[in-house]
Amino acid sequence: MKTKKTLKRILCCLLAACLLSAAAASAEGGTVYTIDNIREYVVGVDEPVTLADGTVRPVINFDNAATTPALKPVVDEVNEKLLTYGSIGRGYSPKSNISTEIYENTRGKVLSFVGLEPEGSAYTVFYVNNTTDGLNKLASALIGSPDDVVLAPRMEHHANDLSWRERCKVVYAEVDKQGRIIYEEIERLLKENPVKIVAVTAASNVTGYMPDVHRIAKMAHEHGAMIVVDGAQIVAHRAFSMLGATPEENIDFFVFSAHKMYSPYGGGAVVGLQEVLDKHQPKFYGGGTVELVLDTEVHYKSAPELYEAGSPNYPGVVGLGKAIDILREVGFDRIAEHEQKLVRRMVDGLKAIENVTVYGDTENLGERVGVVTFNTSDANSLELAEKMAEKAGTATRRGAFCAHPYVWRLLGYSDEEMADFEGCTDFKTPGMIRVSFGIYNTEEEIDEFLEILKKQIAEIKAHNEELDRKELWDDIMMPEY
Ligand SMILES: Cc1ncc(COP(=O)(O)O)c(C=O)c1O
Repeated sequence: MKTKKTLKRILCCLLAACLLSAAAASAEGGTVYTIDNIREYVVGVDEPVTLADGTVRPVINFDNAATTPALKPVVDEVNEKLLTYGSIGRGYSPKSNISTEIYENTRGKVLSFVGLEPEGSAYTVFYVNNTTDGLNKLASALIGSPDDVVLAPRMEHHANDLSWRERCKVVYAEVDKQGRIIYEEIERLLKENPVKIVAVTAASNVTGYMPDVHRIAKMAHEHGAMIVVDGAQIVAHRAFSMLGATPEENIDFFVFSAHKMYSPYGGGAVVGLQEVLDKHQPKFYGGGTVELVLDTEVHYKSAPELYEAGSPNYPGVVGLGKAIDILREVGFDRIAEHEQKLVRRMVDGLKAIENVTVYGDTENLGERVGVVTFNTSDANSLELAEKMAEKAGTATRRGAFCAHPYVWRLLGYSDEEMADFEGCTDFKTPGMIRVSFGIYNTEEEIDEFLEILKKQIAEIKAHNEELDRKELWDDIMMPEY
């Protein structure tokens, strides 16, 4: 009885606290952003589009892994801060001072976003155009010779593969049939090769799978290697800390894009060890990076300026800072919980459709962010994705998602088999359909999507049977596992 009363009291206090904070926010003219109201603050979410048959309706946007729509508070913040925009770190004017201060302070916000102290930590932040740019800048600095060895799992986005592959030797760790890391493989390769850097994603853009990057960090450090983590797909989905349970588990470098976290102004960041960055230099040169240039000598600054040649992208940095604020306000626990519901509903719904295969681990869904890829043996994936977009306004992605080697593995193709498709860009090219969720997507959208999917599969199947076209997509289907 007493416990019940205490519980009631706690609940009342919690409710009062929530109401008070909401009241305080609205008294300030502010809004409290939550997982339940965030959809109202997504730009264009209900914007109607005209479909092929003239129907007008909003898009079901399940292409958030590619890029996310803007959040209104992010747009408002950028517009407001543009009123006092001036040159960053270069001008003598009140506006320059304001902009420079915001630009510099956002570094602290980024540090704290990835679990670090905003000041006085061993890490620094340099801004980049996006993840691809960040990984290339990092690789251009850290790779000193074509003989350097990088270790990457066969699950990486091209950004975290080609940036290294084009500069040095890369040894690849195979993944299992469901596209998961084989930790023993990483250990073996670390033992057998003089690995300088382990490059791995925190969340796959194909299966949504989240490897244990802290475990990999420990393995890398024990073998004298550093670890670079591609954070593109995790930042809008899970709280991520660069610090592990022990210092050996800490991540050395973390790279991400702002446009995947509701700030579509370009921009992103690399968070990395100051000492290491200071010892290297990216192969990008220009203004802002130097202390002094003489006829015959150049004296460079240290990181982060050394890594930021040219005029900065101020809206990108302002948008990134605000997006961090909003995501943290909504709360990553709530975001993850919501996303898990969406993933479960989609995976269950897809599995219930005859002849549909869902890729990756479909049992341990807690290990994946909101990314689900699938195929059906009843319809070609390109035709299906196109028809769904055309007839019902769905936004998905179809193909190999800039992670070709990973997708070929999941589809069951060898390199030799894939080589035959060179130059082929039509529906015969192997691929999958990907749906990926944002914080604003709803279970109703999933149900509607599944209905549209079933209808379009049935229509394509019937049409193909009529035309006896089955052989056209037969050879691109994947084996069951
Ligand atoms: C896992 C992963 N890494 C890197 C990138 C590249 O990001 P960006 O295009 O912002 O450079 C993406 C983009 O989809 C991605 O999903």
